[in-house]
Amino acid sequence: MSGVQSKNTALNNAVNMTFADDVIKGLSLPQKMLPSRYFYDAEGSRLFEDITQLPEYYLTRIETEILRAHSRDITKDVAAESVLVEFGSGSSLKTELLLNTLPMLSAYVSVDVSNAALQEAADRLARHFPDLVVRPVLGDFWQPLSFPPDIAKHPRIGFFPGSTIGNFTHNEAAKLLTKFASHLSLGGRLIIGVDMKKDVQTLLNAYDDSAGVTAEFNLNLLTHINRELGGLFELAKFRHKVVYNADEGRIEMHLLSLVDQNVSVCGHDFSFVKGETIHTENSYKYSIDQFQTLARSAGWHPHAVWTDELHQFSIHELRLNTISHTNQL
Ligand code: AVJ
Repeated sequence: MSGVQSKNTALNNAVNMTFADDVIKGLSLPQKMLPSRYFYDAEGSRLFEDITQLPEYYLTRIETEILRAHSRDITKDVAAESVLVEFGSGSSLKTELLLNTLPMLSAYVSVDVSNAALQEAADRLARHFPDLVVRPVLGDFWQPLSFPPDIAKHPRIGFFPGSTIGNFTHNEAAKLLTKFASHLSLGGRLIIGVDMKKDVQTLLNAYDDSAGVTAEFNLNLLTHINRELGGLFELAKFRHKVVYNADEGRIEMHLLSLVDQNVSVCGHDFSFVKGETIHTENSYKYSIDQFQTLARSAGWHPHAVWTDELHQFSIHELRLNTISHTNQL
C-alpha cells in the first residue's frame, strides 16, 4: 500500500516536472505558447465534454452522425478476431457506434493517459457490450505500446476520432501517423476523424461559443497551472481569443493579456504587455485531398472516406501495404 502510494507520488512529481518545464519553456518564447494537452485536468475534461454538446461545436455532432450512418460500411470487411485500438480513448462514446457493427472483435484496447477515463469507459462498455473483452492501456500514444500477450498476434484496426490529429502541425501529424503505422503494422488499418476546411465564421463560432464554455476551457489552463505549479495568474486579466490563420489552415486559440503585467510561475517571472497573447491551441482543418496527401507522406494508403452532406467533417480509412482501389468521393 505505502509502496504504491510512494510510487504514485514519484510519478506525479515526474509528471509535474515535465509540466513545469513545458510551461517555463513555452512562456519564455517570443510568442508565448502553452501545449494544448494541459487543458485536460479534471475540470478541463469536464468542460470539453460540455463543448461537445454546444450548438456551435459541430465537430462531435457531425462525426457521430457519420459514424451512425456508415458504421456498417466502415467496418464491413474487418477481419474476424481483430483488435480495435483507440488512441486517446477518453470516454469511448463514439467507439460504441463502431462496436455495434463489430460483433466478431476479439478485444477493444483503449489507450489513454487518464486512468479515471479508462475505468469509467470500461465499466460502461462492460454493461453495454457484455461479451466484449476490454483491455485498457494507461499511456501516451506517442510511446511504444505493449499489447496483452493473448491478443498480440491478432490483426489490429486503429481508431482516432475527434479530429485530435488537428492539434498537431503537419510535420507532427505525419510523425504521429507514422507512429500509428508502427503500432498497427499487424492488420494495417486506421479509421481517423478529421475536421474539414469551411467558411471562416462557422469555424470561429465553433471555438468562440455564445455560452462562453470554450472561453472557460481556455482560461482553465491558467487555473491548472496555478494549482499544480503554484502559478499566480489572475484570470480576470486575460481574455479568450480565437483567430483563423488562413495561411496555415488552422484555428488558433490564444489568451490575451488585458493589461501590462508580471506573472510568477514556479519562481520564474514572466512579463506581458497589454494585448500580448499566449498561444494555447492549434486546430488544423483539412480538405480530403490535403489529408490524403499527408497520410501518404506517412506511408498510409487512403482507402475510403465518409463525410456529411455539407462536407463539414470527414472520416478516413487508411490502410498499409495494400493498393487503394476504392475511393468513395
Ligand atoms: C479535441 C482537439 C479536437 O481542436 O476542436 C475544442 C479541442 N478546443 N474547443 C478541437 C477543442 C476548443 C478539440 N480537439
